[in-house]
Amino acid sequence: MNSVSPIEPAPLAIDAAGVPYSTRYGDIYHSADSGPGQARHVFLGGNHLPGRWNGLNDFTILETGFGLGLNFLATWQAWRDDPDRSARLNYVSVEKHPFTTESLSSLHGRYGEFAPLSAELREKWPVLVAGIHRISLADGRVLLTLAFGDANEILPKLAVQPDAIYLDGFSPASNPGMWTPTLIKAIARKARTGTTLATYTSAAAVRRALESEGFLCDKRPGFGHKREMIGARFAPRWRRQGSAYAGAPAGDKHALVVGAGLAGAAICERLASRGWRLTLIEASPAPAMGASGLSAGIFHPHVSPDDCVLSRLSRNAYLMGMSRWTSLGKSGHRIEWSRCGVLQLPHRISEEEAMVRTLASLAYPVGYARTVDAAEAGVMAKCRVASGGWWFEGAGWLRASSLVRAELDKAERQLTMQFGNPVRRLERRGNDWHALAQDGSLIAKAPVAILANAADMQDLVDVGTPLRRIRGQVSLVPQRGGHVPSIVVTGMGYVIPPREGMMLTGSTYEPENQPLLPPDDANSANLVRLQHLLPDFECPSSPDALCGESAFRAVARDRMPLVGRVPDLEAAKNNRITLTGAQLADMPHLPDLYCATGFGSRGIIWSAMAGELLASLLEREPLPMESDLAAAIDPGRFALRNLRHGLL
Ligand SMILES: Cc1cc2nc3c(=O)[nH]c(=O)nc-3n(C[C@H](O)[C@H](O)[C@H](O)COP(=O)(O)OP(=O)(O)OC[C@H]3O[C@@H](n4cnc5c(N)ncnc54)[C@H](O)[C@@H]3O)c2cc1C
Ligand SMILES: C[S@@+](CC[C@H](N)C(=O)[O-])C[C@H]1O[C@@H](n2cnc3c(N)ncnc32)[C@H](O)[C@@H]1O
Repeated sequence: MNSVSPIEPAPLAIDAAGVPYSTRYGDIYHSADSGPGQARHVFLGGNHLPGRWNGLNDFTILETGFGLGLNFLATWQAWRDDPDRSARLNYVSVEKHPFTTESLSSLHGRYGEFAPLSAELREKWPVLVAGIHRISLADGRVLLTLAFGDANEILPKLAVQPDAIYLDGFSPASNPGMWTPTLIKAIARKARTGTTLATYTSAAAVRRALESEGFLCDKRPGFGHKREMIGARFAPRWRRQGSAYAGAPAGDKHALVVGAGLAGAAICERLASRGWRLTLIEASPAPAMGASGLSAGIFHPHVSPDDCVLSRLSRNAYLMGMSRWTSLGKSGHRIEWSRCGVLQLPHRISEEEAMVRTLASLAYPVGYARTVDAAEAGVMAKCRVASGGWWFEGAGWLRASSLVRAELDKAERQLTMQFGNPVRRLERRGNDWHALAQDGSLIAKAPVAILANAADMQDLVDVGTPLRRIRGQVSLVPQRGGHVPSIVVTGMGYVIPPREGMMLTGSTYEPENQPLLPPDDANSANLVRLQHLLPDFECPSSPDALCGESAFRAVARDRMPLVGRVPDLEAAKNNRITLTGAQLADMPHLPDLYCATGFGSRGIIWSAMAGELLASLLEREPLPMESDLAAAIDPGRFALRNLRHGLL
């Protein structure tokens, strides 16, 4: 069972000398001589920055203890002001007690030199919930990956290969938990030969722990009144295991993307923003004509008492989605969506109490999720609802086709689209993937291919598991009389507030091995769900008068999406013996072939997560989620399981 402790924000305090101070740890956030000065001398200077990032494609920094972000702001500023800087700066930082935006605002006011940068950081500051938050700054050229949680737990789960490391977790005496040999070992595991490290402390125990993990340390002049600090370089005298990173082939940043639904469009947008050229191939005559063509869908995170993998992944994806869609809107690419709030009701009234207990133990910020009783729920919805439940204030509904178009518009300059052209075969010839039509003619080729064509992916490659096609129908119900909600209400089914006089409600779940429901029966089933959610709503007496829309979901055996590299089943089969005891990272993969599918009933949020994850994999960036979450959706997981059970 997974469990994540709730995030407790840092209290705001300033000591007598005017330095931000932690009442929890009894230590100051930076040298009393100057925070920015310490950042430049110890952390930048200690890692030979600026200078080391000159001319590189990207440069990656890992920090323990984000605090008020002074090290980050000083680094970003130095990078911004350096004409020879790397094309991108990746900054990954771990923080157990993040400040609230309000506290940050008050603290940042003390460091006017960073004003424009700190304002952008605060504008995109995430909600304080556990896990990894991806923040895109400076038009995507600075990628901040914030891991909220205890460093001892979350740092080992970071997928990052730093060029430089900042150790800044209060003094070892006041906060020994940030300097344990175990944590230092976990940090060393992220390093590669040549990674540098700096910390303001000169404690002998820290130096010894670093040395025993392969760092060559030297004492350097400290900052301000501190005599010495540690600078180090990773130079282990033992061989390290190879990297599990994928990464694109060097050279042409060009990918084929098959399928122009939510998955394909998000991938195109995220890769185009990183300078890729994309060729998007779609069987239908226009984008968003599969499941992504439904009039609207809802988005909200999954919540469970044990904060299971699905809950953690959906939290990551939901927050990523909202930040992406907001920034798309800001860049002038309009999406039809509403963050009207989502009220989730229990399937049975008897489960309401358990829902209350669950949220009490998870202690989320109220803006993320809180419980409401039936009376308050009714006030929120502006009509009576069946019971109380969970209230997700920032969640809502979205028209997927508008998101698809917005993403494709944004990627336009780097995008070639081919419609009405189903890919019937994919062949690796030399260093390229060739997408072939029915008659064997070439549709397009590129060094990288990404399959985003839902359950039809299995016509092109075998990932060792079937993807089921599950039909679903939603119904459009005329808004009659009162008793209609102004928010999304979900539980057993869902209802979206009326637009142009029609509410959308759904949906049926019809596996392909059962006879499909006639459309009127599907409408009737949806009305039963609707009545469950809104007891006072006057449902139309004849369901045949309703308009229905249907489509197919793609669903994997474990109901989780498949996002990542496509495994090479033939190679795995031929190497069964050597792969005994293999982990996911050991699985052979088809070269430069990726997929994003199996989005089931959560395609809206999964698409945001999949786009960012694939772009990060291809660009060898820090991953935007913990490695166990990336493993949970790795397309190779089924082949690995089959291998372990002797089924391959
Ligand atoms: C009734 C119903 C209700 C739903 N409600 C919600 C909801 O409320 N919230 C939510 O988040 N999700 C919901 N979903 C799920 C969501 O719609 C899907 O998960 C999502 O649209 C899947 O996006 P996709 O891009 O993977 O697939 P699709 O949108 O199906 O796109 C795949 C594309 O690939 C193309 N293609 C296939 N094969 C080929 C080929 N060989 N060559 C070229 N092109 C090809 C297809 O034409 C299609 O355009 C619902 C789904 C259904 C059916
Ligand atoms: C000295 S401050 C960091 C200052 C920061 N680097 C800056 O530039 O503003 C140390 C930080 O470590 C965090 N911290 C302490 N213990 C931690 C732990 N176990 N895991 C993660 N963060 C921790 C504290 O909450 C605090 O914000």
